[in-house]
Amino acid sequence: MSVVVVVGAQWGDEGKGKVVDLFTERADLVVRYGGGANAGHTLVIEGKKLVTHLVPSGVCHPGKGCVLGDGMVIDPHTLLDEIAECQARGLLMKNELVVGRGAHVILPYHKLLDGLREDRGATRGKAIGTTRRGIGPAYEAKAARRGVRVRDLAKPERLRELVAGNLDELTPLIVHLGGSAPTQAEVTKWIDDALRAGEQLAPYVGEAGRLVADAINAKQHVLFEGAQGCLLDLDHGTYPYVTSSSTIAAGACQSAGLGPTQIDSVVGITKAYATRVGSGPFPTELHGEAGERLRQAGGEFGATTGRPRRCGWLDLPALRMGVRLSGMESLALTKLDVLANLPEVSVCVAYKLDGKELDEPPTDPEDLVRAEPIYQTFPGWGPLGTAKSIGDLPPTARAYVETISGMAGVPFCLVSIGPDRAETIRLSDPFG
Ligand code: GDP
Ligand code: IMO
Ligand code: MG
Repeated sequence: MSVVVVVGAQWGDEGKGKVVDLFTERADLVVRYGGGANAGHTLVIEGKKLVTHLVPSGVCHPGKGCVLGDGMVIDPHTLLDEIAECQARGLLMKNELVVGRGAHVILPYHKLLDGLREDRGATRGKAIGTTRRGIGPAYEAKAARRGVRVRDLAKPERLRELVAGNLDELTPLIVHLGGSAPTQAEVTKWIDDALRAGEQLAPYVGEAGRLVADAINAKQHVLFEGAQGCLLDLDHGTYPYVTSSSTIAAGACQSAGLGPTQIDSVVGITKAYATRVGSGPFPTELHGEAGERLRQAGGEFGATTGRPRRCGWLDLPALRMGVRLSGMESLALTKLDVLANLPEVSVCVAYKLDGKELDEPPTDPEDLVRAEPIYQTFPGWGPLGTAKSIGDLPPTARAYVETISGMAGVPFCLVSIGPDRAETIRLSDPFG
């Protein structure tokens, strides 16, 4: 196995950052695909925490290549801040980072539009609950073939022309949504700031797709890092409560310009329970005290926005859908420790809808809201301590892990029992 994709199996925040950091030990190149600074991937190494939003989570392994794929939408200022934070910790000092020339750029008017739409949606009970990082509007511009790409930051005239053309169409929309028309001074500042950021990023900009292809051809180990999760996928997730990119494993091919035959293995990351940030159906959500207990025990507050995450029981139909959408061959189970000290733990094993039992969520969101979870309950377990193998786990925790792996139809390659690198039970190595 030399090309492995790591993908979130649920609604994001499954612990992809921790797992990518671990798998980077065996990788030569780590490639972020899809999304932008809506992601927040947390790494904890010997008690020290780093949250990455754009830079791949392999960054804590000096000397390994880190690539931002052409399918991403990049806020150049956020990226520069993140590079500076990494360099202050002695990371990214050896030209490890390459930013795809073809990636799209998030500009201030994308964030403005994202926020205005969310504010207006909130007054009508229709907000998506986005991260307000400008993701949707930047991908809209890309699909409309009017987007600004990283390569355009090196061409002042072209950038000015593109921004003017975009704002010509978008200004009436900004005003319609309750914003003020950007002044000429503001627009000039946005462009000047972007050009300056472009100059600072220039040493990192390169042909990401070709670099990845060359590494694969040279039989190097390439690790693709997904952002968000399968159920937030634009085509296959709980639309319209999704993000605007392809979050499933196929997104790795699109972002880097690879064929699917070049992917050797896909690892899905799932929490031992479920969380979701933002709006949208969440059938196993726990309200009140039970949800609050999981939130506090799991530290379930957004790594990007700080918002409290909605918490609930593990949803096997949703997990099965993620497995199918991304062709996962193994799963990493995270946050098993968070369920410790509960008298019992429930798992949704199927849904009931109109008298029928469903093994995957219905695809129509209105049906998903009506679907009733069918639960199986497991006896709880105490603290997991420093377990290093499955055999070290309390028998009830072990039964939980083995049963959900069987019901998801995919083996676990790793069980995580704490945020730190060291708090991990490794079962198999995705690079073989
Ligand atoms: P990502 O977006 O998928 O990378 O996940 P986030 O970083 O947004 O959220 C996962 C959170 O859980 C982070 O705070 C991690 O440090 C933490 N975490 C990861 N694995 C474990 C685990 O096994 N146990 C506990 N208690 N925390 C974990
Ligand atoms: P990581 O990579 C969890 C959610 C937002 C919102 C929806 C659309 O850390 O797992 P967007 O800003 O993308 O237009 O918001 O998607 N969302 C995430 N939820 N983890 C993420 O990333 C997310 N990225 C976007 O909360 O519901
Ligand atoms: Mg996250």
